[in-house]
Amino acid sequence: MKSYGDGQPVLKGLNFSTADKKLTAVIGSSGAGKSTMLRCINRLVTADSGQILLDGVDLLKLRGKALQNARRQIGMVFQAYNLVDRLTVMENVLSGRLGYIPFLQGALRRFPQEDIDHAYQLLKRVGLAQYVNRRCDELSGGERQRVGVARALMQDPRILLADEPTASLDPKTSERIMELIGKLTDELHLPVLINLHNVAQARHYAARIVGLRNGVMVFDGKPHELTDEHLELIYTGKEELSEQLQPEGEPAE
Ligand SMILES: Nc1ncnc2c1ncn2[C@@H]1O[C@H](COP(=O)(O)OP(=O)(O)OP(=O)(O)O)[C@@H](O)[C@H]1O
Ligand SMILES: [Mg+2]
Repeated sequence: MKSYGDGQPVLKGLNFSTADKKLTAVIGSSGAGKSTMLRCINRLVTADSGQILLDGVDLLKLRGKALQNARRQIGMVFQAYNLVDRLTVMENVLSGRLGYIPFLQGALRRFPQEDIDHAYQLLKRVGLAQYVNRRCDELSGGERQRVGVARALMQDPRILLADEPTASLDPKTSERIMELIGKLTDELHLPVLINLHNVAQARHYAARIVGLRNGVMVFDGKPHELTDEHLELIYTGKEELSEQLQPEGEPAE
């Protein structure tokens, strides 16, 4: 369970596992709790109760160094990319290793050669090999998000989380990024949890869809199992649904 301050719970009784190493899309209206769920998993916020198990270790019980070690295994891709604009593409990707190297070395941006090689490979994989030394503020949104994906993978994550990674992109670029994340999920054999507003994309790219409504999971199944009724339940909610189903100004006979 998670509530903010002394407000109402924002997440309630969620129980699911992503051990299947596939792409799972999380859908739900604005305010349903999608971002809160991802933030609870990577401990950007702390759940009030429950368990969050990563390789059998309960993240909620971890503190200090142990928490830091667990968090670096959770890759995160953000809607607003969260890159450091004045740094180069390579430097941003290498920052995915900061949790792994001694602080001072990181502060001086002295990364081991193997990290630099790995970053280069990842940049090649996301289609940015030619931009390695560009500053990130010179890139388009789609290119920035490719850097965001490479940076998350640079952490060598055990799970990848993405919070509306395509919401700031035009439709075509958005598809490209989803394609990339979909392919990487298969290639790297990683569980990926991705918050999406675009239901068509969720259906197309995800192996599994989770529907949240008011912090409660109201759907968990394969894309083909997601019916219009489920979508109404997820997006409209029963109360509003029953109101909407009232005929409006039907022409009199
Ligand atoms: N830092 C916070 N402090 C207080 N309340 C918050 C905070 N973050 C989120 N909330 C509340 O928690 C609820 C869930 O928000 P959350 O951002 O998780 O929803 P979401 O499903 O990601 O929505 P969106 O689709 O708009 O991104 C909302 O009612 C929101 O107002
Ligand atoms: Mg959100």
